[in-house]
Amino acid sequence: MTLLIRVSKQVQRNSFQNPLLYRLLSESSALRKGPESKECKWLFGSSQEILSVVRGHVEVRQNFISEEEENALFKEVETGLRKKRYEFDHWDDAIHGYRETERLQWGVTCESILRRVRAVAFPEGSPLLGPIHVLDLDKEGFIKPHIDSVKFCGSTIAGLSLLSDSVMRLVPENKSTDWVDLLLSRRSLYILRDDARFKFTHEILKDEESFFSGQKVPRHRRISVICRNLPV
Ligand code: OGA
Ligand code: MN
Repeated sequence: MTLLIRVSKQVQRNSFQNPLLYRLLSESSALRKGPESKECKWLFGSSQEILSVVRGHVEVRQNFISEEEENALFKEVETGLRKKRYEFDHWDDAIHGYRETERLQWGVTCESILRRVRAVAFPEGSPLLGPIHVLDLDKEGFIKPHIDSVKFCGSTIAGLSLLSDSVMRLVPENKSTDWVDLLLSRRSLYILRDDARFKFTHEILKDEESFFSGQKVPRHRRISVICRNLPV
């Protein structure tokens, strides 16, 4: 799955290699009140301009699922994940410290959650990738900047976050000094569409670098349940 759907694109961003420097940058940005999105608590970026580029192409719906629904999803994916070992050693992979599985058939509760995800995330009639992708990131795990394969996936990526809050960073392919951070709270649904999906890399920050608007966002083990559509 990893090989099929991902094309890893590593981007040089020296200023963010140092978490302290990044924190200082975020804090000074927060003080200036410049890059914070006025409308939502989950969007933060390096400038108002970059926020206006992604606005309408990114969405985070906090508390999209209840604790009971999170439990139901967790129980159902855990059986598939348990058989696998976390992968830490492949440094050329887009993901470090993870295991993953796919699931086509779901129980009644989970199927109804996924139906709700499809209804809000995808255009009506859009052909979907059949199996749902389940990615389990260890506490030490993280996802490096990459763009999902345009050959295998369409315009929209929608993901539920279980077990932990995290920060997803988007960086424009053509301007690697700009960035947009999304706060993916536990039990939220995020949706990346069109330009945010095609023209920006996305990544999930490692625990040491996991700050949103200057605030630490502790990263624990995190499971994502990701729906994608097919290219047209
Ligand atoms: C991926 C990816 C994000 C997530 O698997 O390609 O970017 O939410 N996952 O786990
Ligand atoms: Mn991806």
